[in-house]
Amino acid sequence: MNKRVILITGTPCTGKTTTAKQLTAQLHAAYINLTEYAQTHGLIVGEDKERKTTIIDEEKMKNKLSEAISQIDSPNVIVDGHYATAVVPPTLATHVFVLRRNPKELKQFMQKCGFEGAKLWENLSAEILDICLSEAISVHSGRVCELDVTGKKVEEVVNEILDVLERGKKCYAGYVDWLGMLEREGLTDQYLKA
Ligand SMILES: Nc1ncnc2c1ncn2[C@@H]1O[C@H](COP(=O)(O)OP(=O)(O)OP(=O)(O)O)[C@@H](O)[C@H]1O
Ligand SMILES: [Mg+2]
Repeated sequence: MNKRVILITGTPCTGKTTTAKQLTAQLHAAYINLTEYAQTHGLIVGEDKERKTTIIDEEKMKNKLSEAISQIDSPNVIVDGHYATAVVPPTLATHVFVLRRNPKELKQFMQKCGFEGAKLWENLSAEILDICLSEAISVHSGRVCELDVTGKKVEEVVNEILDVLERGKKCYAGYVDWLGMLEREGLTDQYLKA
């Protein structure tokens, strides 16, 4: 079986889970949420108190996930998480979608998600500095699609992904430039604080 293994990644709170779940429903796919997977498979090895995040045993997750994905008997597997590109090897992943959201909008989304203080600024900087995209390209070069989801309804985002998966639409990586946008608008210092 030619299995598609589709990674949905992006900075925290860009809309990965909302998008991935709707895509899962449309494709009748198997779905793996990495946050839940880490919890249910005992892969949390500590807590980063300063960052208020959990520390994952990435090597163990990589091994477990690879085995799990290989055994899934479904033509479509969707993996949702901001470190998906680090734990699903390029030999398995067939498509990588990196969700991008304008930092002006993302800041509001993050506040709604409950981020505040250092964690908010750190995650916002990660989006402005293309961290998720760079990580994706460094490992999965050639199969990375960058999607600017700013102001789009979930249905629109899912449709753009289906355009690529089902309707042969070409996609690109490297066209979003939040830093350039902020610099042009004189807003860099207001948004890039970490
Ligand atoms: N296209 C959209 N339009 C409006 N709101 C959205 C959209 N996508 C997601 N949201 C909202 O944004 C918030 C974050 O979405 P979601 O939980 O899917 O993000 P995430 O990237 O999975 O976050 P995390 O990295 O923390 O898992 C939620 O409140 C969700 O309802
Ligand atoms: Mg999520």
